[in-house]
Amino acid sequence: MEKTLVIIKPDAVERNLIGQIIDTYERNNLKVIQMNMLKPTLEQVQKHYSEHQGKFFFDRLVEYLTSGDIVVLLLEGKGAIERVRKLNGKTNPEEAEEGTLRKRFGIDHTRNSVHASDSEEKVAYESAIWLAKS
Ligand code: TYD
Ligand code: MG
Repeated sequence: MEKTLVIIKPDAVERNLIGQIIDTYERNNLKVIQMNMLKPTLEQVQKHYSEHQGKFFFDRLVEYLTSGDIVVLLLEGKGAIERVRKLNGKTNPEEAEEGTLRKRFGIDHTRNSVHASDSEEKVAYESAIWLAKS
C-alpha cells in the first residue's frame, strides 16, 4: 500500500486545526501509521526544502516553518501520494480548489497549513528527516 508524508504546519497547529486536518485524511480512507509532533530545527527545514534553496521565498519559508510546532504524519492508502496532494489543494490558498485543506485553512502562499510529498522518492527523503525508522 502506498505511503505519503504530511506536515501540519505551524499556522494550523497554532489555530487548533490538527484534529480537523487528520479527520479529513481519515474520512478519505487514509490511515495514520506514524505521527511525530516537534519544533523543527533550521537544519531539518533547510534539508526538507533543499529543492527551493536560492528562491525568493526560501528564507521566509524556513523562518516560518521553524516558528512553532508541527505535526508530521505518515499516511497509508491507495494512491496516497496523489490523493493527499489533491486533498491539500494548490500551493496558494487563494487558488486552491473549494473544499481543499488549503482553501479551508490556509492564510497565504507561505502559511498554507499543510505539506505533502509529491513522489515516492520524496516520501523516503522526507521520512528520513522527520520520522523514526519503523
Ligand atoms: P512548492 O513545493 O512549490 O509547493 P507545495 O507545498 O504545494 O509542494 O513550495 C513549497 C512551499 O514553499 C509552499 O508550500 C509554500 C512556500 N512558497 C512560498 O512561500 N511562496 C511561493 O511563491 C511558493 C511557490 C512557495
Ligand atoms: Mg513541493
